[in-house]
Amino acid sequence: MRIDIITLFPKSFSVFDESIISRARKNGLIDINIFDLRDYTKDKHKKVDDYNFSGGAGLLIRADVVYDAVSAIDPEHKAHRIFLTPSAPIFNQQKVQELAKFERILLLCGHYEGVDQRAIDLCFDEVVSIGKFVLTGGEIACMAVVDAVARYIDGVIAPESLKNESYANGDELEYPQFTRPREFMGLTVPEVLLSGNHAEIEKWKREQSAVMTQKVAMTGKGEEV
Ligand code: ADE
Repeated sequence: MRIDIITLFPKSFSVFDESIISRARKNGLIDINIFDLRDYTKDKHKKVDDYNFSGGAGLLIRADVVYDAVSAIDPEHKAHRIFLTPSAPIFNQQKVQELAKFERILLLCGHYEGVDQRAIDLCFDEVVSIGKFVLTGGEIACMAVVDAVARYIDGVIAPESLKNESYANGDELEYPQFTRPREFMGLTVPEVLLSGNHAEIEKWKREQSAVMTQKVAMTGKGEEV
């Protein structure tokens, strides 16, 4: 999969040089390209933003700069184009799987007060928010989306891991897990996990998944819009 990211802060994407994503890049499974939005402005001071016609203190990223960047990077509109903004439907695991099917995606990170709406209307296929809160920019949201999507690219993660995790089956959450030592600070590993009885262990996992799912739903943390 090819992933193009347009941002005002290219250095923040060094996170993709670590761990699983870095390995997937080295193995040629994902091709991540970071583009600096400032490279597409015609302004001699590389200014990308301007005042907001609706008033207020913040500056907005100009439509022409975004349009020129997107047109240069994806001239034939081959990529599925996503704009990251809090004013959008909330991202979830179903969307992760949907996005992972595209051969190419392009993401634009907003910053400052946002982006001129005409750029969004003209250039983007979809808007995505990673949650009901506002970040200083779309970079962290973009990293979350790319990381989650990359896990679904063939070869990046063992297929088994994708089956046994939270949200693999609807809203069901994963059961609690334990490693050595068997006792830590007075807390012990549940006896059934040490029993070697696979049928009982499977039953325990299903039950604990249901308990976890219920617990999170009741505290409202699993709420979705
Ligand atoms: N930019 C700022 N806040 C955001 C959010 N919650 N999701 C996506 N992009 C954002």
